[in-house]
Amino acid sequence: MVQLEADIRELIRQAEKIHRLSEDEIVRLLRAADAEEALAAAADRVRAAYVGDGVHLRGLIEFSSYCRRDCLYCGLRRSNSKAERYRLEAAEILRLARQAKAFGYHTVVLQSGEDLYFTAERLAEILRAVKKLDLAVTLSLGERSYEEYRLLREAGADRFLLRIETSDAGLYEQMDPGMRWEERCRCLQDLRRLGYEVGTGCLVGLPGQTDVSLARDILFFQQLDADMVGIGPLIPNGDTPLATAAAGDFHLTRRMVSLIRLLLPEANIPATTAMETLQPDARVLILQSGANVVMPNVTEGEARRKYALYPGKACVADTPAACRHCMEGKIQAMGRYVAKDQGFRQHRK
Ligand code: 5AD
Ligand code: FES
Repeated sequence: MVQLEADIRELIRQAEKIHRLSEDEIVRLLRAADAEEALAAAADRVRAAYVGDGVHLRGLIEFSSYCRRDCLYCGLRRSNSKAERYRLEAAEILRLARQAKAFGYHTVVLQSGEDLYFTAERLAEILRAVKKLDLAVTLSLGERSYEEYRLLREAGADRFLLRIETSDAGLYEQMDPGMRWEERCRCLQDLRRLGYEVGTGCLVGLPGQTDVSLARDILFFQQLDADMVGIGPLIPNGDTPLATAAAGDFHLTRRMVSLIRLLLPEANIPATTAMETLQPDARVLILQSGANVVMPNVTEGEARRKYALYPGKACVADTPAACRHCMEGKIQAMGRYVAKDQGFRQHRK
């Protein structure tokens, strides 16, 4: 056991007990490499107390790799002429959703680049069919108008994932050219007003990002009272302007996940594929450091390979059935279990 400075230990105790820290205090913990295990242990206790031992599996369907945006880090960016583009037919999306249901998943996440071919009307039709399967549905398809979000909600969408990527408005607008930080916030507010469960998150390791900025990301999630928070390290993609950037730091990302659990005790927090890409079995470690969700990919065939946000994505060569089996084994080996319910956020008060 590493001997931690008394005040670092006290900060962790405070976070575990009252789930509040100032910006400076978060920064101190983010910088305290030797506090990582103690932070993870505290986050694991808070996870057990607030959301229990069930791990929620959400089946991820990557239904289109077209994107109108040009984010500097993302392999789907429109300027990436090397990206192989595809769109799944509605019938194929529905088949994958049925498959996910057969695997025992209770949620499907429909994710894509920002592809306007999929109008709200087209998506609504798909949603109505998927909802007949008695699945919770999460959408992750980027920025739309209030009216479009409303149509999608009425068609049955339960949740929406829209990462802020960074809470530093200047950095955001530099990394995602043509996009506006204010507009990102408008989307999150609209989703909230419409009664979606709102998920957000950030990238760790964007060029120019500081520990202070990461601390502000966490405070932003807390202020938003996010229902879900997904965090992943930047993984440089050779076909993007960030080809030669350094990858996000694994340990810093782990401390971020633990801090998010301590400060948003009720949130659903995934152990992300990007973490697993940096280090084998990372999802198990992250599930023991505050996380309680995994999003196994149920996309099949060529599309699974073509949806290349970043290189070396974990599980790309595996089949959805293999992933299902593999995850269940890992979860049981940890003494946890695969949750049987749809995994909505439970409010404690
Ligand atoms: N490395 C890690 N994560 C990435 N994402 C996009 N590109 C990368 C990359 N190169 C993440 C973004 C986005 C999510 C769907 O994938 O945070 O919100
Ligand atoms: Fe597609 Fe950023 S490149 S959302």
